[in-house]
Amino acid sequence: PDGATFIKALAESGSLTSVPSNYIFTNDPLDQAVSDPEESIPIIDLSSLTSGSPDQRSKAICDLGKACQEWGFFMVINHGVSESLIEMMMDSCRQFFDLTEEEKKEFQGKHVLDPIRCGTSFNLSVDKVLFWRDYLKVFVHPEFHSPNKPPNFSDNSMEYCKIIHQVARELLKGISESLGLEALYIDKAMNLDLGFQILIANLYPACPVPELAMGIPPHSDHGLLTILIQNGVDGLQLLHKGKWVNVKAVPNSFLVNTADHIEILSNGKYKSVMHRAVVNSEVARISLAVANGPSLDTVVRPAEELVDDGDNQPAYVGMKYREYLQLQQSNQLDGKSCLDRV
Ligand code: SIN
Ligand code: FE2
Repeated sequence: PDGATFIKALAESGSLTSVPSNYIFTNDPLDQAVSDPEESIPIIDLSSLTSGSPDQRSKAICDLGKACQEWGFFMVINHGVSESLIEMMMDSCRQFFDLTEEEKKEFQGKHVLDPIRCGTSFNLSVDKVLFWRDYLKVFVHPEFHSPNKPPNFSDNSMEYCKIIHQVARELLKGISESLGLEALYIDKAMNLDLGFQILIANLYPACPVPELAMGIPPHSDHGLLTILIQNGVDGLQLLHKGKWVNVKAVPNSFLVNTADHIEILSNGKYKSVMHRAVVNSEVARISLAVANGPSLDTVVRPAEELVDDGDNQPAYVGMKYREYLQLQQSNQLDGKSCLDRV
């Protein structure tokens, strides 16, 4: 499928009455989609972590640990990031996808370590079926990059990603403590001053027969914490106790998940949970994920404090984050396939 065009153009051409055959899943990956309305992901109040009384903070840390262990996903409310900044950032993403095909093609990087890359599907070099998704990926920290169009993208993403980095660091303090480690343990061990941060904007156009197509296939994220917002349209599903759960987002909250390097650092206590995005026939969905990872030169391994010679032997081999990324990209990008177990 190399050279595939953006799905936006195809979906909006007005000529589609069904899903083109190269987007159809023959093994019906949607058949397991079960959402138990009773089950919904935990909610974490960030303000109790950052400015609560000692009691509120210990309770929030306890809730956070439970959320990480039982779900690997949670919603963050009272995060302190202004609604207007979030709206401006979402607008910039929408405007990016509204650029002409020609303009977007200027940003079609080729290599996984190109700092600005836009494209379609998931991993075109290995995808057997195309995914109903266009994307833009930008490296924003420690070196900031941005497409030069639309005009406000650079300013908005710089401000937004900086604040998100702070939110991630606050959450990682709580996560460290929930593991019995000192608050700044992860921050220091992962060298977050140079933490690798990627902004990923996703566009999922309305799809004539959404059951036949998939927005993003099941995968786990490679960094430490991914923080996601969306344009008020749901579509994220996560695998919980063997079932796909639809995430119903509370307006103005962040959807956060623990990623592969938290799984490694916690020696498997906290899992990097598989998730995917489904599409709908009504409206286009835009999501914006900011992936917050270790610095590229950090060797990540299970925290020494969490392993011993007895029941808690290290379950993962240490590896540089940079090497992990390269290995993952050269494999099928289906998540933890390259988590190197001992
Ligand atoms: C992702 O997992 O990278 C994006 C999921 C979403 O669009 O909700
Ligand atoms: Fe993801």
